[in-house]
Amino acid sequence: MTSSTLPPSLGLNFCGLNFHSPLILLSGSIGFGNEYTRIEGFSYQEAGAVVLNGTTRHARRGYSGHRLNEASMGLLSATGWPNPGVDVVVNEVLPSLDIQPTHLCANVCGETLENLVEVTRRFNDSSVSAIELNMASIDFGAGTLTGDAADQLTRIVAACRSVTIKPLITKLPAHVDDMGLIARHCIEAGTDAISLINPVAGMAINIESRKPVLGHGIGGLSGPSIKPIAILKVMQVAEVARPHGVAVIGQGGVRSAEDAIEFLIAGADAVGICTGLYYDPLICQKINSGIDAYLKRHGLTNVAQLSGSLQSN
Ligand SMILES: Cc1cc2nc3c(=O)[nH]c(=O)nc-3n(C[C@H](O)[C@H](O)[C@H](O)COP(=O)(O)O)c2cc1C
Repeated sequence: MTSSTLPPSLGLNFCGLNFHSPLILLSGSIGFGNEYTRIEGFSYQEAGAVVLNGTTRHARRGYSGHRLNEASMGLLSATGWPNPGVDVVVNEVLPSLDIQPTHLCANVCGETLENLVEVTRRFNDSSVSAIELNMASIDFGAGTLTGDAADQLTRIVAACRSVTIKPLITKLPAHVDDMGLIARHCIEAGTDAISLINPVAGMAINIESRKPVLGHGIGGLSGPSIKPIAILKVMQVAEVARPHGVAVIGQGGVRSAEDAIEFLIAGADAVGICTGLYYDPLICQKINSGIDAYLKRHGLTNVAQLSGSLQSN
């Protein structure tokens, strides 16, 4: 299926944007737009939106040494957000990317409130459809985002909100115990959507050298092994977000239509894919077809009818 042949039942309104598919290719999957375009059959049109790699105020080389390590049922990664800096992304990358009707979104990274606000401001004056704040790029300390850390997060969302009129998506770190509480803080600060979960902190050790495998030492685990954690947290956040009309992007280990449907039932409005694209660059067309077949089999006319349709035992 291409966007012109995607069934209308897969279309949805996401924060005022028309998505022709509930699938979003997440930050870290497509680089700055040219990673998969040479693969036969690959098309951005299979996704409702794609998110560029994390972008910072100034160019970053990223971490040295190994950045990726295949784990059982997943991927351990620590990239250090290599990117050319926001001005190059806005002035050179974005003008070279015309992928309509698929929406392009920015992913804002930074280690301080000031940097996150400045990058958000610059993307506000660009062609991106929405701006995602990667809260995993801020060091909130080792805690679980309560007290001061929750206040800090609220201040960041509010400050970024004040410099953009584009839909603002807050992407939460994974190490949060009470996701519902943090979602409430983000909503009060003015976010339009919440995206979760980011990779879960992890590590791999080379037993011969007895050193960490990744150059950075600690990394983030993504892929199928984190899906049950993600499903629970998406359900908890959706319970808080839906009454406020705040959208939820569910992610973590999606690699089949069944996985995507599970996230939708848990309460996601759209479903993100990153590691799944590494396994199969043509994954989106298979997932779109599978969701469409499921809707037909269950007598549903639109994917939005699935979102939050979880029944109790
Ligand atoms: C190699 C790699 C790079 C990533 N880079 C970013 C990034 O720059 N910004 C961000 O918000 N998330 C980043 N992520 C996280 C993904 O967007 C996604 O939230 C996470 O991997 C869970 O989804 P998945 O299991 O489908 O991969 C990255 C993930 C991987 C594996």
